[in-house]
Amino acid sequence: MVKLHVPRWAWVLTGSGHFFTESFALVRQLEHCDVFVSKAANEVLRMYKLKLDFPETTRVLHDKTASAIPVGEFYHGVYHTVVVAPATSNTVAKCVHGISDTLATNVFAQAGKCRVPAIVFACDTAPELETQAPHGLVKVYPRRIDLENTKQLKSFERTLVVESLADLEASLTRRQAELASDG
Ligand SMILES: Cc1cc2nc3c(=O)[nH]c(=O)nc-3n(C[C@H](O)[C@H](O)[C@H](O)COP(=O)(O)O)c2cc1C
Repeated sequence: MVKLHVPRWAWVLTGSGHFFTESFALVRQLEHCDVFVSKAANEVLRMYKLKLDFPETTRVLHDKTASAIPVGEFYHGVYHTVVVAPATSNTVAKCVHGISDTLATNVFAQAGKCRVPAIVFACDTAPELETQAPHGLVKVYPRRIDLENTKQLKSFERTLVVESLADLEASLTRRQAELASDG
């Protein structure tokens, strides 16, 4: 088990095929990161033939308890930043309505209650999208409710909603610079 001398990233993987592989690759570039894997993400990653093999300083936490026991560490100042990437329409909808009944939604909720900033890479950002399904590209038409939920999430305190992989990468770089300048 890794000793927690250094504040950590909390990265939530949800069961969205949209930019799943790309988000996964970004986790591999981070040091001192806890990866919170939703039950759906645990299934989806196998469909994309990905393995939870990360740098040595990474810990992987699964959704196995009703009370989301791993999120207790938020109350001990373990995390400096939450990243939810990719974020399914399901997880975004729950977050927007203050529901925290899964590991993923609990990370977002407890981060909010502990004033830890969050970056959310929402999938449903436009009325028409192309997404990488396990066997090739498919068209997706997010509903009005999905788009409204993404929009509403943008009004949350300390929450940055990003809508593209390039924006996600830029926001991570910005946050890394902020953390470095904080010492
Ligand atoms: C291969 C695959 C790809 C999926 N891609 C998406 C997606 O891009 N966006 C989405 O909202 N849901 C997607 N889903 C459905 C979610 O996994 C499902 O809604 C799940 O309940 C989400 O749970 P979570 O939000 O707790 O991870 C996908 C499911 C599968 C099997």
